[in-house]
Amino acid sequence: MLTGTGTVRCALPLLGLAALAALGQALLAPPTVNVSLDEGPELRWKPLLQVFDVEFLRRAGAEVIDSTVPKWVHQALAPVVVALEKYIPPPYAGEIRGMASLFGGSLSDIVILNFAYEISAFCTSIVAQDKNGSVYHGRNLDYPHPVLRNLTVNVVFLKNGEVAYRGTSFAGYVGLWTGQSPHKFTVSGDQRGSDHWWNWWKNFVSAFLLGRTPVSWLVRETLVEAENFQDAVMRLSKIPIITGVYYIVGGVRAGEGVVITRDRKGPADIWPLDPVNGGWYRVETNYDHWLPSRDPRRYAASKALNATGQDHINMDTLYQVLSQFPVCNGITVYTTTMSAAHPEKYRSLVRPQGCP
Ligand SMILES: *[C@@H]1O[C@H](CO)[C@@H](O)[C@H](O)[C@H]1NC(C)=O
Ligand SMILES: *[C@@H]1O[C@H](CO)[C@@H](O)[C@H](O)[C@H]1NC(C)=O
Ligand SMILES: *[C@@H]1O[C@H](CO)[C@@H](O)[C@H](O)[C@H]1NC(C)=O
Ligand SMILES: *[C@@H]1O[C@H](CO)[C@@H](O)[C@H](O)[C@H]1NC(C)=O
Repeated sequence: MLTGTGTVRCALPLLGLAALAALGQALLAPPTVNVSLDEGPELRWKPLLQVFDVEFLRRAGAEVIDSTVPKWVHQALAPVVVALEKYIPPPYAGEIRGMASLFGGSLSDIVILNFAYEISAFCTSIVAQDKNGSVYHGRNLDYPHPVLRNLTVNVVFLKNGEVAYRGTSFAGYVGLWTGQSPHKFTVSGDQRGSDHWWNWWKNFVSAFLLGRTPVSWLVRETLVEAENFQDAVMRLSKIPIITGVYYIVGGVRAGEGVVITRDRKGPADIWPLDPVNGGWYRVETNYDHWLPSRDPRRYAASKALNATGQDHINMDTLYQVLSQFPVCNGITVYTTTMSAAHPEKYRSLVRPQGCP
């Protein structure tokens, strides 16, 4: 059940309460790049090189792989990955190939890097509705690789020169865990369950051959294809994926907010906002919401939201909730707040030291 080998989990590090000192830490806005979907998949990520040094990208990628995948496995996997590459569907196959040639790295490493992130992206997502029916959506992404703070990037996906959707990601990664389709919906993903790397890899191989989608690619597909909140919820609930996940979705109208608990084949549970009966927010971390949880983030977020109250919830107060320890903690990489009805307010900020 437990991982050895540095595989990461959305576990909260046990930090001493003494570490509450660090107030007023600097926050960084990550760089933003435009990725044009009108460009061929192999070329479209080139704008990354306007904001990242290629040498740094290569080093950082190697660091993530080394701390996730044991060296001998890494070597053993390389030929398997190359053989599997032909099963990766477009446009991701082309994007990953393009990324490899941009970075000057090996194709198998970029594939492994993409799937290393796939097993280790997390943590607290909140969808909430104010008294006027405006819907807000926020997320913290926790991940125990500090280098990811310097790889965080806002990506604006353009189609015919217009913004099709946007999200926050890591340079080199083609999936999205956080995204917004303007005037339609917002979505975030939180890891569910804790596959051992080996089991996960087995699932990955077989699932790929069965044509299932990585969870972060379904986010992109939904952002580009779904017509509205309802349509997005249906796609995110039903389309087969390679591993369980929680999808949190916010819309543009009152009541449009939901936590979808996913099994590989379909929904395990759908947990919508229920403002009439006091359910004006939903908090999801990395545990099924109907089970009792020892996750202190969930309790702290709920307590902070209760203290804020539906009268006072907005983008700023939601951000404050996401800034409280331990909702924000030592491994928090970035915080995003968004509201599909006001796409210009999309904001992601990197937490340079987390919230120790
Ligand atoms: C990105 O695209 C937007 C919308 O087309 C444009 O206004 C902006 O200048 C572009 N930014 C860069 C860095 O190319
Ligand atoms: C909610 O609606 C009231 C009345 O129209 C308005 O005064 C208030 O500013 C609105 N609040 C928000 C957060 O939009
Ligand atoms: C990340 O960037 C910051 C500020 O630019 C720098 O001080 C730090 O050393 C970098 N960290 C890594 C792991 O590259
Ligand atoms: C927040 O309020 C709800 C509704 O009153 C309650 O069920 C829940 O236990 C509260 N959460 C905390 C952490 O106090």
